[in-house]
This record gives sequence, C-alpha cells and structure tokens, in this order.
Amino acid sequence: MQNTATDMVVATTITGVRESVANARAMGSTIGFVPTMGALHKGHLSLVERARKESSFTVMSIFVNPLQFAPTEDLAKYPRPVEDDERMARESGVDLLFRPAVEDMYPGKREVTVAAGEIASEWEGSSRPGHFDGVLTVVAKLFNIVQPDITVFGRKDLQQAALVAAMIHDLNMPVRMIIAPIVREGDGLALSSRNRYLSDDDRRSALSLHSALQEIRRAFARGVTSTVELEQIGRSVLDLTPNVRLDYLAVVSPTSLARNDDVSKTSAAIVAARVGSTRLIDNMTIGGDDEN
Ligand code: PAJ
Repeated sequence: MQNTATDMVVATTITGVRESVANARAMGSTIGFVPTMGALHKGHLSLVERARKESSFTVMSIFVNPLQFAPTEDLAKYPRPVEDDERMARESGVDLLFRPAVEDMYPGKREVTVAAGEIASEWEGSSRPGHFDGVLTVVAKLFNIVQPDITVFGRKDLQQAALVAAMIHDLNMPVRMIIAPIVREGDGLALSSRNRYLSDDDRRSALSLHSALQEIRRAFARGVTSTVELEQIGRSVLDLTPNVRLDYLAVVSPTSLARNDDVSKTSAAIVAARVGSTRLIDNMTIGGDDEN
C-alpha cells in the first residue's frame, strides 16, 4: 500500500534509512529506489511515478556526490533548492527521502571504489575523467544502504544507465533496473537540472541538440545507414547554431556505447555540447516507435 502524499519520511542518516526500509519490508512492501542529485524536475518525477507502479514503497535519495565532479566542475555551484525538492518529492508520492550529508557518505579515507570498464572509455568518460567511477561508487553505496528490489534510472544519461546495468550484472547485485524514457519540454529540450543556467538566447540555441538528433532519426528513416553520414547530418545542424560548442556527437550501441558500422533501429545518437557556459547532453534512439 502506498503512503499518502503527506507522510513522507525524511532521513538524513544511514541508520534512519535502514530503519524506515526495514519497517516497510516488515509491512510486506517491496522497495523501489530513485537516486538523484536534487534540483528536481519532471524528469526525476517520472522516475518516481514509474517506481510507484513497480513497487509499494518508494525511496528517493538526494545527494550531490562530490566523487563524480572533477575539481574544475560545478560541484559548489550545483543547485540545491532543498525546500522545493522536499515539497516535490512529497507531492510525487515518495515515501522516504534520503538526504545524507557528505560526511556520512564519505566519513574518511576510502580504500575501495568501483571502477568503470570499457563502456566508460569514451564520451562522458573521456570528457569527465573519473566521473563514472564516482557515479558507480555512490550508486553501489546507495544500493547497499537502501537495498531496493527495483531501481529506476533515466535514459537521459544513457552511458550512466548502461554502466549501472553493467555493474548490477557484473557484481551480481540483487536489484532489478528499469530505464525510463527521457522527459522533454514541449519544444523538445530534454529536462535537466542545468537548464536553469541557460539565458533566453542559450535556451533557443540549446534546442539544436534535439533538432540534430531528430535530423539523424529522419535520415535513418529515409534509408541512410552509414554511421559517418548520420553523424555528419547531426553535426551540420549544430554547426549552424550560434553559441554551441560541440563536445561529441556519435551513433552508438545503447548498451556498449561503442560506435560501430552496424547501425540498427535500436542504435542511439548521443550528443554533448556546451551552450554558452552550460554543458548539456541528450540522446535519441534512431529507429523504433518513439524517440526513446
Ligand atoms: P541526476 O542528474 O539528478 O539524475 C537522476 C536521475 O534522473 C538519473 O537517472 C537521470 O538519468 C534522470 N533524469 C534526468 N533528467 C531526466 C529527463 N529529462 N528525463 C528522464 N530522466 C531524467 O544522474 C544523477 O543524478 C547522478 O549521477 C546519480 C545517479 C544520482 C549518482 O550520483
């Protein structure tokens, strides 16, 4: 049975989470888990909605994980709208919100971390060295703290989702992972906590990421199956847009993230670009019934 929207428990300690989850289990609940870094938007809430369909007690974590930010990145600047986040989590039906302090998650020197393999070797992995080791380490810790039956991640971060799936598989973690579709604004911009940094001009330019991916999808539907040609079609859209500095655009396997010549309808076009000073990522399946 779901709790009503008003009685969400907020835990800031690991012990608190364990107690609350143990109580839910004792009542016969199954546990769904949605890890986030907060600055919640409808993309995050769609994961909660999915978790609520697949389990009876929904846990969300909000933790801006220092381990996955490089020294040059926006850790200090990462938005932390604590009260809005708590309200949105409550209203979306989260049963337990876990908001740990950095000292509780990382109390001292670490001896062991999770190392991402080949899936991390390119794209976000090469643009952000160490990033995915940081992501996998915190996700493994959170799984061990919450011990969920199911977990929901967004396809928005496709490489992250592929790596978490690989970690669950390779380390035999007893959790079922669901990858949920990308939630977009009406005009196609993928929702992101970083969109709030975009000026009006940036916001217009940012749409070119979605347009580039759509052009690739259209070209594939017309019969273009060459990786290089599809990538060129996408790049030409971004080249024409002011204020956009392309980081990468590629057509890859959605599970290995490898770029190869056998493009199929499940292949994904992935893109990262700096729009003004904000770095955005997006992706799209190039064939199939919908954009996800
Ligand atoms: P964060 O960026 O807050 O994202 C949390 C989850 O929300 C991720 O699974 C992400 O893919 C999903 N998400 C973000 N935008 C989305 C959108 N527009 N549509 C659907 N899902 C979306 O990803 C992280 O945090 C961290 O790396 C984390 C996994 C929490 C580890 O620290």
